[in-house]
Amino acid sequence: MPFYDDLQVMFSAEQIQQRIRELGAQITQDLRGQEVTVISILKGSYIFCADLVRAIDLPLSVDFLGLSSYGGKTETSGVVRITSDLSMPIEGRQVLVVEDIVDTGLTMAFLEENLLTRHPAGIKVCALLEKPSRAARKIDIHYKGFVIPDAFVVGYGLDYDERYRNVPFIGVLTNR
Ligand code: IMP
Repeated sequence: MPFYDDLQVMFSAEQIQQRIRELGAQITQDLRGQEVTVISILKGSYIFCADLVRAIDLPLSVDFLGLSSYGGKTETSGVVRITSDLSMPIEGRQVLVVEDIVDTGLTMAFLEENLLTRHPAGIKVCALLEKPSRAARKIDIHYKGFVIPDAFVVGYGLDYDERYRNVPFIGVLTNR
């Protein structure tokens, strides 16, 4: 039995890969001809981003931004801190922010405000998951993987208390 047999599958590895191929094709079409920097938001989006960039048929750079928000294990407080900053300037570049999940939207609102001060040519947001039932801030998600109900999900990069990131699918914790 795998260590994650307490998870209920929401999206299988195959379903995720299929959706990523569609998102990649759309992004390839939309951002062609632009100087693109993909920003993977750590830690939750690292696996998604690794698969997504391979589905985008464009020359691009990849950078990482670490964010941590004060709060409990499953809640964002809205007070967000940069734990690790970008390694390159984004001025004049088309940014594609890659996030695991937009829940209340507070993290993404903070991030967009921060990135705008660095004068990119534009910012597009790609989120694998969206939980619209909990939205506190309106976020424009240009590329969205799946819309989910208000459940706490883990796997495929998403964690509960730093565990489950290495689960190959997205699932719901049943005995939390
Ligand atoms: P927001 O600021 O409420 O939109 O929260 C965004 C961040 O909270 C995400 O980038 C995740 O790291 C984390 N998060 C929100 N919901 C979940 C979930 O269901 N599972 C795992 N992490 C989550």
